Amino acid sequence: MTGATRSRRVVLVLLLVVGVAARAASGAVTDGLLPNGNFEQGPDASQLNGTRVTSPNAIPNWEISGFVEYIGSGQKQDDMILPVPEGAYAVRLGNDATVRQLLSVTRKAYYSVTFCAARTCAQAEKLNVSVGPENGVLPIQTVYSSSGWDSFSFAFRARHSTLWLTIHNPGAEEDPACGPLIDSVAIKKLSPPPREKGNMLRNGDFEEGPYIFPGTAWGALVPPMDEDDVCPLPGWTVMSDTKVVKYVDAAHHAVPRGARAVELVAGREAALVQEVATTPGRWYALSFSVGDAGNGCAAEAMVVEAYAARATARVPYESRGTGGSSAAPSSSPRRRSSRAWCSRATTTT
Ligand SMILES: *[C@@H]1O[C@H](CO)[C@@H](O)[C@H](O)[C@H]1NC(C)=O
Ligand SMILES: *[C@@H]1O[C@H](CO)[C@@H](O)[C@H](O)[C@H]1NC(C)=O
Repeated sequence: MTGATRSRRVVLVLLLVVGVAARAASGAVTDGLLPNGNFEQGPDASQLNGTRVTSPNAIPNWEISGFVEYIGSGQKQDDMILPVPEGAYAVRLGNDATVRQLLSVTRKAYYSVTFCAARTCAQAEKLNVSVGPENGVLPIQTVYSSSGWDSFSFAFRARHSTLWLTIHNPGAEEDPACGPLIDSVAIKKLSPPPREKGNMLRNGDFEEGPYIFPGTAWGALVPPMDEDDVCPLPGWTVMSDTKVVKYVDAAHHAVPRGARAVELVAGREAALVQEVATTPGRWYALSFSVGDAGNGCAAEAMVVEAYAARATARVPYESRGTGGSSAAPSSSPRRRSSRAWCSRATTTT
């Protein structure tokens, strides 16, 4: 062995050791609830005036600004009881109020953040979620669950290894206490859109997507976004003005295949879009399953519309609310694999 190869080997070993040490020190977040992401650790009595939090660092792991309240389960507002979905505490963001937490992430990786929110007054509430330079304004005026709580998702690509996750209520209401409740903030690293052999669509089975809280029955809403934003559903884009699609799990919903599916809860006001590279003049076949999530919407005549280039398919589905599914555009309820033309699907009810 020559001296040159020996010294090259030493260098390689050193690099490896440095790499491991750097990764251990970075302590990037792991999938699941953020530290004190459910706000169960709260302020000391001396840092509260009634329900209002009076010190910026009173809630462990979080930093607050503006009119932030610390809400206990069962607390009343006028005659309405404010429920808390997980544990015993949540926060409420009044006008222009913010909660934020510093995240350690892996640079250049993709992440999605999921959090629970509920409105407390009737006005059109919005939440401005930002992670570093990326931000999105999520409309929360439409309630999609019977509990009043929904989980919202937001995705980003980490430009730095430490980033502030900020949830901000940009509202300016007369009653400063009229703001959304926030509970349970979680994060999940997203894998690149998985591609199945023989399927040109990426993440066609929707198996990769935002974090869903295992104890909740309301999935996670995926908001509309601009083309260049990161979608919590890798491979797909949600197209709409203010409406969402609902990402659901097999534990609480009927899912025809795999562990995840998408429920088109907003009717024709929201569409799922994916761009596929094709060769002009060639023929392509597309198959998909249409069903209901098994959440009791009985005797509803539904239609899914699919478009690809200039071709359109309308796929009717008669829901019994019990979680059946059929292939598109076949009307036989058992067949799952048939053909249609599609790059985009919307429902009408
Ligand atoms: C608590 O809030 C009330 C109402 O805003 C205010 O009048 C009072 O001075 C506050 N108390 C303290 C100790 O800051
Ligand atoms: C949302 O937050 C971002 C970053 O904090 C800010 O630049 C943007 O103006 C905010 N948008 C609204 C509507 O408040």
